Amino acid sequence: MKWIIDTDPGIDDASAIITAVNSGALDILGITSVHGNVGLNHTTRNALKLVELMGGDVPVYQGTSRPILQQREHAAEYHGENGFGNTSLPEPGIAPQDQYAVDFIIESTKKQEVSLLTLGPLTNVALAIAKERELEKRIKQIVMMAGTSRARGNTSPLAEFNIFADPEAAAVVFESGIPIIMVPWETCLDTVFGSEVIVRIRRSSTEVGKAFAQAMEYSVGRTKAYLGSEVLLLCDLLAACAAIDPTVITQQLNAKVTVETGGRFSRGLTVIDERMDDGSKPNASIALACDRAKIENMFLDAINAK
Ligand code: RIB
Ligand code: CA
Repeated sequence: MKWIIDTDPGIDDASAIITAVNSGALDILGITSVHGNVGLNHTTRNALKLVELMGGDVPVYQGTSRPILQQREHAAEYHGENGFGNTSLPEPGIAPQDQYAVDFIIESTKKQEVSLLTLGPLTNVALAIAKERELEKRIKQIVMMAGTSRARGNTSPLAEFNIFADPEAAAVVFESGIPIIMVPWETCLDTVFGSEVIVRIRRSSTEVGKAFAQAMEYSVGRTKAYLGSEVLLLCDLLAACAAIDPTVITQQLNAKVTVETGGRFSRGLTVIDERMDDGSKPNASIALACDRAKIENMFLDAINAK
């Protein structure tokens, strides 16, 4: 199966990209960068740096720099101003492809069926759906880190960042009919990684593992301030591992998910309708629980931190 990874690296995005690329389990056509945790220049640069540190043979395509309608949001407080823990990574020696990420997504699906692993705001995907007639029939599935299962937000009281950063784009994607596997914020909170993993990452011997270990320190510090304990919260890693091996999802719920775009207090909420009394059909499978040990091993293998 062919994959495109759409991402706003981002420290947890980095763990996902490292695992997706180094696992060798996904046939990755390319990585598309998008605005999100930090600005597009940084997310693109971080994607390039990660690819270069892993051998550099996955092309990176630069995507959209802003949401469809609202002003940009960012999460620099959790990822550092440069999106990689403010670590002083050298400039990447490789450049993004010339083709715009939205067009790359469209053109890739003309040659073969493609699955998407989305780790950031859904602007690139929504624009591709809007631009290309019937694109939604050529995308096999979207595995995404996005949304909430019980309305426990992280960026607003009710909304998770990847939805909140572009609710209109998220609404387009959830209404498209493309099969979705959604890893929500609450499941990420229930699947954090403890100090023994942190210690093993610090011992990583690969270039990309050492770079991640530097950036990780920032994330551990910020998560300690947020959760009160020294753990690693790697949301996007769960989605990447679910794409590699769906059995990492140990409990799931099929439901109709819609995105609130109008509410004054609820904008960016993913509304989970389990009953579907109106006769609507499920459009997403929500990962309510994941196998932490399996994910931990997949990541530690990927950064050679065994
Ligand atoms: O809410 C967590 C999500 O927002 C993750 O994808 C993180 O990287 C940020 O983009
Ligand atoms: Ca992300």
